[in-house]
Amino acid sequence: MKANRQPHPATIAAQGLGWTDGATGAVVLPIQPATTFIRDPDNQYRRGRNYGRADNPGYDQPEALITALEGGAASIVLASGMAAATTVFRALPLGAHIVAPLVMYHSLRRWIASWAAEGYIAADFVDMTSLDALRDAVIPGRTRLVWVETPANPLWSVTEIAGAAAIAHKAGALIAVDSTTASPVLTRPIEHGADIVMHSATKYLNGHSDVIAGSLTTARDDEFWQKLVAGRGSGGAILGNLETYLLMRGMRTLHLRVERACRSAQLVAEAMTRHPNIAQVLYPGLPDHSNHAVAARQMQGGFGGMLSIRVKGGEEAAIATAARVEIWKRATSLGGVESLMEHRASIEGPGSPVPTDLLRLSVGIEDPQDLIDDLDQALGG
Ligand SMILES: Cc1ncc(COP(=O)(O)O)c(C=O)c1O
Repeated sequence: MKANRQPHPATIAAQGLGWTDGATGAVVLPIQPATTFIRDPDNQYRRGRNYGRADNPGYDQPEALITALEGGAASIVLASGMAAATTVFRALPLGAHIVAPLVMYHSLRRWIASWAAEGYIAADFVDMTSLDALRDAVIPGRTRLVWVETPANPLWSVTEIAGAAAIAHKAGALIAVDSTTASPVLTRPIEHGADIVMHSATKYLNGHSDVIAGSLTTARDDEFWQKLVAGRGSGGAILGNLETYLLMRGMRTLHLRVERACRSAQLVAEAMTRHPNIAQVLYPGLPDHSNHAVAARQMQGGFGGMLSIRVKGGEEAAIATAARVEIWKRATSLGGVESLMEHRASIEGPGSPVPTDLLRLSVGIEDPQDLIDDLDQALGG
């Protein structure tokens, strides 16, 4: 009997959209390493591909899957999350005004600031949890892009995408959302009015800490989107064949991993609120997080696998706690199967707005009690 409804996204992801290899019937598509494609005798390229930089057949399935999961019109995969983000900024007209969050993924914030310092764009950084602050910052007719990250590194502040989209669109700007930490399992920004969704696919989409990749998804296949597609092809920030294959494999378990990470992160966050050596737990799933209400409306199925803890005793105590963990791995990055802990201010370096007593935790898929017990022994007290 045929199902008379669309399969759940978890089904679509697990089966990679149900694609099989036409030549062999294989349920996994082969890696196609060709860099060039045969031209027809009459000088045409009827099969639609000519050179591997722009036309990699391996991209078709992961791009179609990301598009389906995000509810978009089209997607592209790129060499990294940074490549994806910078492709968007590079496609803006010279001198365009953009608004980005004050607190966000630090490498991108620095890149935007330096791109602005070189005169390519004009950038304002605002508290993106305040729609009033965003409204004050946009310049109607001049602002071309509002950049949102939600939940945002490393305080896990949540921006109301629908409100931000309305402000951006009224000013004549596009809104792009870095949805890396939510993943399409928890938030589909296009449904809330976003024009572009960006992922560091290095994180939850791949999920195994073994691929650097990025993706962009568009709500509409329009002129700006075609600039982004051309920006990847001619800019050359393409994803390698093995990485593309691994990303596709990783995405098949996306829902399992994200659901588990969310459940465990909630348990870890709740346990940490009771710990005597913790000054504050930052997790949007906690009722006392300043953006909990927005998160509860906007995120579905959980509040993500990322949280931060502020350790009593300041920087020294935070670094000493990180030194004592045995199950958590002391490493940067997020969204992998293994749980990671990092002293965030150390990785961001001088000028970081991050409190020096803050440890950023990426909750993986291990047994949650093991994670809590390890934190307890590392925190002491
Ligand atoms: C929220 C967010 N956006 C973008 C990036 C950059 O992605 P990548 O490292 O894949 O270039 C990261 C990386 O940590 C991130 O956490």
